[in-house]
Amino acid sequence: MSSKSICSPSESSSSTKSWIVHGIVAGAAIAVAVGARAYLGRSKNFRSRVVGIIPARFASSRFEGKPLVNILGKPMIQRTWERSKLATTLDHLVVATDDEKIAECCQQFGADVIMTSESCRNGTERCNEALQKLEKKYDIVVNIQGDEPLIEPEIIDGVVKALQAAPDAVFSTAVTSLKPEDAFDPNRVKCVVDNHGYAIYFSRGLIPYNKSGKVNPQFPYLLHLGIQSYDSNFLKIYPGLHPTPLQLEEDLEQLKVLENGYKMKVIKVDHEAHGVDAPEDVEKIESFMHHQLKMKMKAASGKELLGGSVVKVHQI
Ligand SMILES: *[C@@H]1O[C@H](CO)[C@@H](O)[C@H](O)[C@H]1NC(C)=O
Ligand SMILES: *[C@@H]1O[C@H](CO)[C@@H](O)[C@H](O)[C@H]1NC(C)=O
Repeated sequence: MSSKSICSPSESSSSTKSWIVHGIVAGAAIAVAVGARAYLGRSKNFRSRVVGIIPARFASSRFEGKPLVNILGKPMIQRTWERSKLATTLDHLVVATDDEKIAECCQQFGADVIMTSESCRNGTERCNEALQKLEKKYDIVVNIQGDEPLIEPEIIDGVVKALQAAPDAVFSTAVTSLKPEDAFDPNRVKCVVDNHGYAIYFSRGLIPYNKSGKVNPQFPYLLHLGIQSYDSNFLKIYPGLHPTPLQLEEDLEQLKVLENGYKMKVIKVDHEAHGVDAPEDVEKIESFMHHQLKMKMKAASGKELLGGSVVKVHQI
């Protein structure tokens, strides 16, 4: 019974020291400088106050109580929170939930919790409500999906820095290389970007489409990852924007942003997607983590002590 809910105290923070980051945000310094110059007249600390919000609901059509599922001895929500805590760009991190059990569990491992109403229809609405309820003001909200317990803190920092560096964008998100076997899987969302790294379109179909009808092994297709960050003024209006034709046809919320003419910055990262959507995914992620642990121990028994997370963030 590996999908039993548990709640354990947080590990000591000593484990955080073993992370070695090989890649950092390439060119981010330049991009930040450009963004800052563009906004010098307005503000020196453009979008500087950042809050990370992990929306978590108990009821789920496919997986009841998902945030509390046990993953190698810890609730999934705790794993997501501990990873997110390592991000350096967040001034504050909270869990937003409508559920007492989740709230209690999160408080036990030390997370700040904001109670949101049960009427929130999706994570974006929950983030918006949580933002309104927070005491302090924030310029950027990062929506950290609770079902990606292996989210790398570098990816959170990457989307935040991208939004800070792109004053004309209201939204930022991340993509990674699409595996050929996922090309025609409608649950894997594809993305195309322009020369400056702004999103052009998202689709459940393969984009761009090669006239051969097959995957072009030479083309660097992009897979969309769930993480997103918003300018907080935009977040206030986002849930209220009317559904748009492409959004409805593809069943992809983020298209509403593009169809209304807003700009979205995209960063490319190296990331193995290990989302937990269904109970079967728990076993998969656990065996992946076991494998990672073995590699780590093997490396440690040699000279080098390797961290588990090696993330490269590329500028597109
Ligand atoms: C389509 O894919 C093939 C490889 O399968 C590639 O050689 C070709 O350049 C691609 N583009 C066009 C327009 O055919
Ligand atoms: C969230 O749900 C509301 C209500 O169904 C909808 O209007 C909105 O488009 C959804 N998505 C986002 C991103 O706000």
